[in-house]
Parts: sequence; C-alpha cells; structure tokens
Amino acid sequence: MASFNLLYATFTLLLALLSSSSTFCFAYPFGWGGGGGGGGGVGVGGGGRRPIGTQTYSGLLPGFYGHSCPQANDIVMSVLERAISKDPRMAASLLRLHFHDCFVQGCDASVLLDDGETFVSEKKSVPNKNSLRGFEVIDEIKSELEEACPETVSCADILALAARGSTVLSGGPSWELPLGRRDSRKASLNGSNKNIPPPNSTIQNLLTFFQRQGLNEVDLVSLSGAHTIGMARCTTFKQRLYNQNGNNQPDSTLERSYYHDLKTVCPKTGGDSNISPLDLASPTTFDNAYFKLILSGKGLLTSDQVLLAGNLGKTMQLVKAFADDRALFFSHFGRSMVKMGNIGPLTGYNGEVRKHCRKVNL
Ligand code: HEM
Repeated sequence: MASFNLLYATFTLLLALLSSSSTFCFAYPFGWGGGGGGGGGVGVGGGGRRPIGTQTYSGLLPGFYGHSCPQANDIVMSVLERAISKDPRMAASLLRLHFHDCFVQGCDASVLLDDGETFVSEKKSVPNKNSLRGFEVIDEIKSELEEACPETVSCADILALAARGSTVLSGGPSWELPLGRRDSRKASLNGSNKNIPPPNSTIQNLLTFFQRQGLNEVDLVSLSGAHTIGMARCTTFKQRLYNQNGNNQPDSTLERSYYHDLKTVCPKTGGDSNISPLDLASPTTFDNAYFKLILSGKGLLTSDQVLLAGNLGKTMQLVKAFADDRALFFSHFGRSMVKMGNIGPLTGYNGEVRKHCRKVNL
C-alpha cells in the first residue's frame, strides 16, 4: 500500500511538473539564460499599457479553439499558402505585423484598426506608415473564419497564427502556440510611435525597448532573426550609407562591396521607397543566413549589425552561435515568439472578438 501511495504521489508530481512547464515543443538545452523568463512587470510609455506577459501562458492555451473552431489553423494555413505563393514577401510582412501588434498595448490586434471615433489608427505611426503590409490577407483569413466559426476566432489570434504559419511556409520552425487573445476596442498612435524600436538604434536602445516588453537579450537576438526574410526601404538604412555619425561618412562596420551595392539601390537624394532584402543571401527562405551575413558585415540595418558591432558580449556570442547552428536559432526563435505573443493579452471578459479586424464591434 505504501509503495502504491509513493507511486501515486510521484505520478501526481510528474503531472504537475509537466503541466506547468515548457511552452515550446522542441526539447533543447538552452544555453543563454533560457529558463529566466521575461522580466514581466508593468509597462511604461505611451498608450495605456497593460501588465506585460512573461514566459507563462498569460491565460492563453494552445487548445483554446479545440472545440469552438478546430479547423482554425487549417483555414489560416490555406489562405497563407495562396497569398504567399502569389507574393513570397507576404510571409515576412505578416510576421512583422504580429511584432508591431504585440509591442503596442500588447497582442490585441490594435495594429489592424482603422481610425475610430476616439482614436487614430496605428497605421499612421512613423514605423508603420507606408511600411506595414498584409492587411488584406488578414481580412481574407477573418472572413473565411467568420463563415466557418462566427464570432469565435479573434483578430489578435489570427495575427499570431499567421506569424507562425508564415514562418513555417518559409522553411522555418513551428512551435506550440498559446491562443485565446481577445481584441482591443482602441488603438494607440502614440504607443506605436514610442514602443517600436527605430532602425538606427544602438544596442543599448534595442535592449531597453525589448526589456520594456519583458524580453531579454536572447529574445532580442533570436527575434531579430526574423530579418532572415523580407525587405526594407532605402529610407531605413540611408543614414548608414552617407552620414552615420554626423560626419558625412558611411558606417565603418559595413562591408565594402555591400556598401557599394547598397548605394546603387539607395542614392543620397531620392529613392526613399526603393527596397533591398534584409537577408541578401536568401530573402524568402527562413534560415540562419541573416546571422552569417552579420558576421561578414552585411547586416542591412544598423539595428541588425549592432547585435555584433555593439560590443555587447552576450548578443555577439548569440549572433555567432546562431550563425553556426541553425537548429539552435530555430529553437530559440520559437521560444521567443511565444514570449512575444504573450505580451499583455486581453483575456476572459476583457476586449471582444471583432467581426471585422479593421473596426471595433458596434
Ligand atoms: C530589433 C528591433 C527591430 C528593428 C529596429 C526593426 C526594424 C525594421 C525595419 C526598419 C524594417 C523595414 C521597414 C520598411 O522598410 O518599411 C523591418 C522589416 C521587417 N521586420 Fe523588423 N525590426 C526589428 C525587429 C523585428 C522583429 C522582432 C520581427 C519579428 C519577429 C521583425 C520582422 C520584420 C520583417 C519580417 C520585416 C520585413 C517585412 C516586409 O518585407 O514586409 N522585425 N524591420
């Protein structure tokens, strides 16, 4: 009897441990502060932020739509397949939408709202204007989901599912994705201007922006790896080519031939909307080439190159480790995406499930 009790107690303990750990499906020994969890705490800065998510589920669950809309992910994936085969860059644009959503008052689909009666759309902020793409694809996913499971799947969860699906369809990792986010009834132009890091950031600035969201150095480097796909406009890297430090000189960390190539795409005057790949080696494939390029001085944005050139030991080491080991990058990327996706979600009776992602319900 005593041995049965011991067995039972061990089993219960195991179950408790299993259910309280691991947000990620790859089993990998994370080397850099992996178990630390995000700093948490309460956000600062514009936009009336909610408490920030940490590595826990923040009330979100992978099986959230298991009964109410079991086909949700299949519907998302089928729309994504069509959209990405028509326009391979779309994967990158959708991945970025989730980031720009989560960094502004949490992952609540505020980024998708057009102007409302009481707020101005985040689409008009400096980081987003003439830059964010993919809103029609999100609309298409939403309209198919409304047909299959009316008023059930939130726009915030659609953004999270589309970010994961886009990563997978570009050749990147998958991860177990906690769901159950609800949609906000307001947007924050101010929050969007204040919380999204600019491309000319120093390493210290980048860390500060990420720490404000409960994210650490490992998250900064792994999530920057999203720049393994997609494009950037000349205006976001022009300063590096012509006047990096106010002395009319280019950024000395730029590799020479890359610098000359970039100047043809991005002249000193004009050409601001010309675009260049963030990963010139494989702009539509999710791989670790981004980190290899940084090692050879071919990061496109200042914010990319400073992960190495910023002289911060931890981020430098991570760039090297991810350049060396694609699987290590993939496992960290999935884990950090879950952390980012857990930033300040609305759950329970907070927020709503929008019928149209561009406007709040009446
Ligand atoms: C670390 C700080 C970051 C900075 C400073 C930054 C900055 C930028 C800039 C300036 C662009 C080009 C925008 C344009 O030309 O209009 C861009 C594109 C992109 N960013 Fe970031 N980003 C950062 C982090 C992230 C994160 C965390 C993700 C996602 C997890 C991400 C995903 C992307 C993607 C996929 C693109 C290409 C989008 C497209 O081709 O449409 N970025 N980023």
